[in-house]
Amino acid sequence: MKRPQAQVAVLQAADAQEDRRIDEVAEDADLKPEAATRAAFELEADGLVTVAEETLEHYDLTEEGDRYVRESLPEQDLYAAALDAGADEEPVQMGQVIGVSGLEGGAVDIALSNYARKGYGEIDSGEITADPDIDAGADPEMRALEAVADGRVEDADADALDQLERRGLLELSEETVRSVCLTDDGVTALMEGVEAAETVDQLTPELLTSGEWEDVAFTEYNVEADAEDVTHGKEHILRQTANRVKNTLVGMGFQEMEGPHVDAQFWINDCLFMPQDHPARTHWDQFALSQPDEIQELPEDLVERVRSAHKNGVGPDGEGYHSPWEEDVARGLDLRGHTTSLSMRYLSGHEIGELEPPKRFFSVEKVYRNDTLDPTHLLEFFQIEGWVMAEDLSVRDLMGTFTEFYEQFGITDLEFKPHYNPYTEPSFELFGTHPETGEVVEVGNSGIFRDEVLDPLGVDCDVMAWGLSLERLLMLMYGFEDIRDVHGTLCDLELLRETEVMR
Ligand code: PHE
Repeated sequence: MKRPQAQVAVLQAADAQEDRRIDEVAEDADLKPEAATRAAFELEADGLVTVAEETLEHYDLTEEGDRYVRESLPEQDLYAAALDAGADEEPVQMGQVIGVSGLEGGAVDIALSNYARKGYGEIDSGEITADPDIDAGADPEMRALEAVADGRVEDADADALDQLERRGLLELSEETVRSVCLTDDGVTALMEGVEAAETVDQLTPELLTSGEWEDVAFTEYNVEADAEDVTHGKEHILRQTANRVKNTLVGMGFQEMEGPHVDAQFWINDCLFMPQDHPARTHWDQFALSQPDEIQELPEDLVERVRSAHKNGVGPDGEGYHSPWEEDVARGLDLRGHTTSLSMRYLSGHEIGELEPPKRFFSVEKVYRNDTLDPTHLLEFFQIEGWVMAEDLSVRDLMGTFTEFYEQFGITDLEFKPHYNPYTEPSFELFGTHPETGEVVEVGNSGIFRDEVLDPLGVDCDVMAWGLSLERLLMLMYGFEDIRDVHGTLCDLELLRETEVMR
């Protein structure tokens, strides 16, 4: 009998008396495990071997688990410090115990919550007690960690293993192990003799032109065989979601705005009735350009109207800021801290001409802020900017638009909170609930533009507007907790590879 080379090798390495693991067979047969698995399935289809499958669970220590197993669990340190401080006799000030425990930062919270959970003692109004009957040295979770570290997972307590996994100290992975065994037919075939036949696994132009394809034996496809993971390039989930947001807004009747990342403070701040001495206009908040340091062109008529709005206000009861307003400051160039600069450019009529209501515009673009880095802040993020220009708009229209927009992304529990912006009145912030932590997260800011903004721009109907964070929307959709998981060098590659963005 003629068989492809890999099948011959697997037949010869398999045994009729006992199951042999495919990885061992592969090694004896000098094949890659995937190739041996494929051959085994082909042989199984012809009744020459049986393939048995078993799922093995396997625990690995995480980095944190590894650290604790070499030192101790934070709650054990806390217990030792509490005993030292006499907390087994009477309650002791928590600060004092923590001080001697050597625990710092996040470890303090970890120690406190596990201490309480395990009943090592009580923590109440800033004081701690220690139960004298506890043997913290024999902590079952520590025992289980040690068992995993020593490769004796069978000695570990199942509840402790579960708990450790929940604490992120262990990771459970599953592995499918397959083994093969020769059938009677397999044994017979071997005795009668099997020879390696050459098979072709790729149809080439040469095979086609020479006509050889008619005579060769092709390798069969097995779509169930294990294959190597191929991590290919793909569009970033932020970009995919940005495109989905754009499609959604276009579907809601919006047109897209475009404009510069570096812009004059005039468009970024002054048109928005932000006084020139506003704290958000300092280098603490925004990035200024030194080269070039000012915009070439500003519409002079608009500059005059904006100056007058700042100095004297708008309308019969209007009050300006009465503070200095310098065109030089307005000409200064910054990385835009919001894309509301684009809204100003479009609403002013200077971008694509005068606009008649009703109109709806949006952008999904990057903005830059001198924020302190933390899990929800970066120096740059994507803002979903938008506005609707129409007669007689109210806060209800804004809320309805957001409800409709976020529903398309599966977010149906929006909350609204009154807010202050120099350029909108009324204003409110939007919040959603994080699917993993249950925390309420700010997702955007919005309002109805004031007359002091619209009058100089020459707009005499209502305009409601907003700036939403694309990254926060992503967090609510996919449940990650740190913006740095999707941006920058600390990003979570697995998340980026495996998250599927619905279209
Ligand atoms: N510019 C605001 C921000 O960045 C968002 C906003 C835009 C609010 C338009 C109201 C109106 O937070």
